[in-house]
Parts: sequence; C-alpha cells; structure tokens
Amino acid sequence: MRKTLSQLKKQYQNNDKIVCLTAYDASSAHWVAEAGVEVILVGDSLGMVVQGHTTTLPVSLDDMVYHTQMVQRGNQQAWCIADLPFMADATLESALNASARLMKEGGANMVKLEGGERVVPIVNALSALGVPVCGHLGLLPQSVQKQGYKVKGRDASSAEHLLNEAITLQAAGADMLVLECVPSKLAKQITGQLSIPVIGIGSGKDTSGQVLVYHDLLGLTVGKAPAFSKNFLIENASIQAAIQAYVKAVKAQTFPEACHEVG
Ligand code: KIV
Repeated sequence: MRKTLSQLKKQYQNNDKIVCLTAYDASSAHWVAEAGVEVILVGDSLGMVVQGHTTTLPVSLDDMVYHTQMVQRGNQQAWCIADLPFMADATLESALNASARLMKEGGANMVKLEGGERVVPIVNALSALGVPVCGHLGLLPQSVQKQGYKVKGRDASSAEHLLNEAITLQAAGADMLVLECVPSKLAKQITGQLSIPVIGIGSGKDTSGQVLVYHDLLGLTVGKAPAFSKNFLIENASIQAAIQAYVKAVKAQTFPEACHEVG
C-alpha cells in the first residue's frame, strides 16, 4: 500500500520523523521504497547527478515527467513528490499545466516548487484544485545564477523573512515544506511555528523529517558531495543496507549530526 498524505500528517503529529530520499528511475525507486523510505522525491537535482549538468536549470518538464514515470513503476509504497522544473512556474497557467502533467502522466502524488511570496498564487490555485503541494525555501537551486549556493537565514532580517514566507506558504495551502541549507536554530523555529511537516536538508535535526540526494547517500556524487550529506555506503555492505541505515538513522535522530549542520 502506498503512503498517503494523511498518514504522513499523522506521522508528523506523532513526532515520527519522515524519511525522504530522491530517486530518478525504477530500480533505485524500488530499493529506496523497499528499504522503508516513506517519501521519494523526483528532484530536479537529476539534472546534475543523472544528466551531468552543473545546475538544475536545463531540466525540462518532459525530463521530469519521464523520470517520475520510471520512479512510479518501481515504487509501490512511498509517497512521491515531483519537482516543477525551472521556469515551469513562471506563470500560473504554466504551473498548473506542468503540475497536471507530473500527476496525470508521471503519476506523482505531490508537486514541489521553489520560492516564497512569488509562488503563493500558484500554491493557492493548486491547493484549491486538490493538488498536494510541497514548498521549498532556503537555498533555491533554481535561483543559483542570482543567489548562488548560499546558506539562507543567517542574519536576523533574512531569518524573519524566511519564517514569514514559510507561514505564508502554509496559509496558501502548502501541505509540506522542504527547507534547504538553513541554520539549524532557524529550521527548528520554523518547524515549531508550522503545522505542516518540514523536511530538512542541511538544516539540522529538528525538522519533521530529512531528505538526501540518492547519489550523495551512496557516494556516487561526481566531485565534492555537500558537507551536510553522508555516504552511508561506507559503513554498509550493499546499497540496500546503506539506504536502510539512513532510514534507521533519521528515525533514531542520529542523522544529521552536528558535523552536517551548515551553521
Ligand atoms: O531536487 C532535489 O533533489 C531537491 C532536494 C535537494 C531537496 O530539491
């Protein structure tokens, strides 16, 4: 049986950490779900770790649909989030069309989009149409050309801005929020103020769950893996065991450790 949004919400209410991992094809999705990962993210990070680009910007909507289809053929158990790629949410109409494709053709259960105030009308409309939505705040890879790969919310005013954006996204109807590279103290504060699950990456241990990129977890990343990630294959004999170890570590709150915090 596939995880439902209401099961994830109950899990969140019971303070049972939500385990999320990216996957991009059927076989990886199969083993990720088998290992007990509850949420699979078909992230546009596939542009970097699968397609070999230096950013996520070249990823097309067709690419996202294609990879989501593959993932959902291999995944029978996990809730599946698919990313709206760069510029798919440039207008309300394009965002609705892209979300429809990700759900109808790709088989996604939820769509994720990057940004705060700008995406509020889109979140509102999707939510009213019955589409589960995940927001994404903090480091925004689709804005890298303007903002760089930088930790967000370090000073008081940007921290307050992020908190307000999170509250606004929730009010617009977001069902979940990814917080990327936010200081752990702020991630804890945002998580505490919201009543939807907050899934952290590089944002400390006090969020409602964690997400990692599959290739980082298995040491497959070409070049330097992000400091907040961990290669679970080093201490495990197989890919399956490494993913299970990640699930166990998130549940037991032994991952992330202080050394994985961005400061
Ligand atoms: O695309 C992706 O994999 C993501 C995660 C880094 C959260 O958005």
